[in-house]
Parts: sequence; structure tokens; C-alpha cells
Amino acid sequence: MHQVRDRRKKKQHKASTKTLYSTFNPHRCYSNMSTTNNTGVTINDLFYTLEDLDKDCWVRLLNGSLKSKDEFHTAAVATLHNGNISLRTMVLRKVLVQEKQLHFHTDIRSKKWEELQQSKNISLLFYNAAAKMQMRINGHATLHYNNAITETAWEKTGVSSRRSYLTIVPPSIPSAVPTSGLDEAFAFRNPTQEESEAGKHNFGVVSVQALSLDWLWLHHAGHRRAFFDYEKKERCWLIP
Ligand SMILES: Cc1cc2nc3c(=O)[nH]c(=O)nc-3n(C[C@H](O)[C@H](O)[C@H](O)COP(=O)(O)O)c2cc1C
Repeated sequence: MHQVRDRRKKKQHKASTKTLYSTFNPHRCYSNMSTTNNTGVTINDLFYTLEDLDKDCWVRLLNGSLKSKDEFHTAAVATLHNGNISLRTMVLRKVLVQEKQLHFHTDIRSKKWEELQQSKNISLLFYNAAAKMQMRINGHATLHYNNAITETAWEKTGVSSRRSYLTIVPPSIPSAVPTSGLDEAFAFRNPTQEESEAGKHNFGVVSVQALSLDWLWLHHAGHRRAFFDYEKKERCWLIP
């Protein structure tokens, strides 16, 4: 009798699992952004619907751009070049919440700048270990050079950061000796404001238009995952 019931239960479980996975499609969301969805997740005693969560992600990213100690201050940034993926850490410099844009600064002589000229596809990965929260953003990059955006960003860049743009030889060029690539004058001190201006012609801004955001929250009672598709204006929960 027990065996029959067990077998029936197993069959039911198999059937429900089959249904679950056969309808799963990572590129399809089940709730449109304009519809109300009252399912949600409770984080630190606060209840978040998908809509709340989307807003919360962007507030967290904004904070990351503003606070150097915030774990969302840096991202792993991936680019594509001739079918090869390159990853590197970059500082998140600016976030435009409404526009869903993120800005990064770099040397226009760098490999990533060249790679982004070939393909605007870009992926950003953020992880906050304390909050146990990961965000993966896929988007399109726009390269800014010698325009109003780089002008404002350069003016806000302090001399210690400007120093990075003063290497005599471009980044990634092989060297016979380990070196910073800087003029010896700047080996142990920052350039003055006036000296730092020489780096301006190497300075560029990469702005990223987010097309989707994949959110994952690790939790002992079961992880939670959500997906926001900004192109299709859809959002949904995903199986983590
Ligand atoms: C914590 C950290 C922050 C970094 N921030 C930046 C940045 O904001 N911009 C940048 O161009 N490189 C930054 N780098 C250096 C890059 O990771 C990378 O090594 C360098 O830019 C060369 O990359 P590429 O050859 O792919 O262009 C950072 C590295 C670390 C470790």
C-alpha cells in the first residue's frame, strides 16, 4: 500500500518538475511592467515587490557610485573582441537612475576602449558580500571623448585619479622592467592640478545603457532571483 502511494507521489513530483522546467524560458518574463504583481521578497524586514526591487537595485548602484567603501563601488566589466571575452575591475563613477545608465572612466589608449569600439555589448557584474546580493547588467556601451560628458567628469576627477592618465607609454604595452609607466617626477607624488591636465587627452568615459538586470539574493531559507528586461519592459522572478 505504502509502496503504491510512494510510487504515485514520485510520479506526481516528476510531472510537476517536468511542467516547471518545460515552461521555463530565461528570455521570457511572465509579468508585464505595467501590471501589478503583489508577490515579493522580504529583505531585512522590508517587503519588496518586483517593482520595489527594481528601484532598490538602482538606489544601491547609485550609492555604490557615490561611496568608495560601498561594495557596489566596483564592477567586473566584460567586453567582447573577436569572440574572446575580457574581464577587468572598474570603478562605478556615476549612475543615472531614471535613464538606467552607468558611467565608468578609462584611458582611451586601453584595450577595453578598442574592444568597445568593435562591439558595444558589455556586461557588468556587481557583488555585495555583506548583503549577499549579486547584480548582472547587460547593456550597450557608448564611448565619450572630448565632449560635455568627459569635460564634466574630468573636472570632477581629483589629481590622484588623474595620475593614471599620465603614463608616457599606453597601457598594456610590454616593458623590460616593472614600472608604473609614469614620469619619475610622479613616482612618489601626485601631479599638481596644472601637471595633471596633460592626462586629459587620454581620458574617456564609457556610459552603459542597461538593457537587462539579473538580481540574485543568497539566503539560508532559499535564494531568490529576479530578472528585469528594460527593452521589453518586463520583469519576473526566476528560479535561482
Ligand atoms: C579596484 C580596481 C579598480 C579599477 N578601476 C579602473 C577604472 O575605473 N578604469 C579603468 O580603466 N581601469 C580600472 N582598473 C584597472 C583595470 O582592471 C585593468 O587592469 C586596466 O584598465 C586594463 O584593462 P584593459 O587592458 O582590459 O583595458 C581597476 C583595477 C582595480 C583592481
